[in-house]
Amino acid sequence: MHNYKVMISAEEISAKVAELGKKIEKDYEGKKLLVLAVLNGSFVFASDLIRSLQNMDVEIRFIRAKSYCGTETTGTVSVTRTDEISFENRNILIVEDIIDSGFTLKMLRDTLVQEKPESIKIASFLDKPSRRIVDIQPDYCCFSIPDKFVVGYGLDYNEKYRQLPFVAELTE
Ligand code: IMP
Ligand code: MG
Repeated sequence: MHNYKVMISAEEISAKVAELGKKIEKDYEGKKLLVLAVLNGSFVFASDLIRSLQNMDVEIRFIRAKSYCGTETTGTVSVTRTDEISFENRNILIVEDIIDSGFTLKMLRDTLVQEKPESIKIASFLDKPSRRIVDIQPDYCCFSIPDKFVVGYGLDYNEKYRQLPFVAELTE
């Protein structure tokens, strides 16, 4: 175990996710939503977020995108689908754990756009705007954080700490 310092508490997270769910329900009123959760990191956020979408028609699917090894980006991103999904005419909401350089989401969005969805938006649990290299912004975001490596609430350090119910900064 490393030492860590809590940055965002479980209570702050649940309040924010509920608020975001309300906003999404309002924005997509009368529409069917395809939630596309990016594995692995977003599984905790996605599971809370979909449970705050009780008043709308939601389908949830998963996609895998991997770009990180340890705390450093590898600079490469691979995308794998978990099933045969047609994105044509769908309202896609990509659900991600964090936007850092932006490479993962930019590449994912550019790939999905080619399949002619009706709309594509991005919901990212966290955003590190100061780290951005490519131009991409989340449509929905719970928290904007400084340039610190964080774990918990689905985010990992070498596959550890995903289970923490809060967001913590590793201190060593
Ligand atoms: P991007 O392509 O640089 O935007 O990287 C996004 C991916 O990097 C996320 O989906 C995370 O898996 C990972 N990542 C970026 N920052 C952190 C962090 O502080 N903690 C854990 N994972 C991170
Ligand atoms: Mg990720």
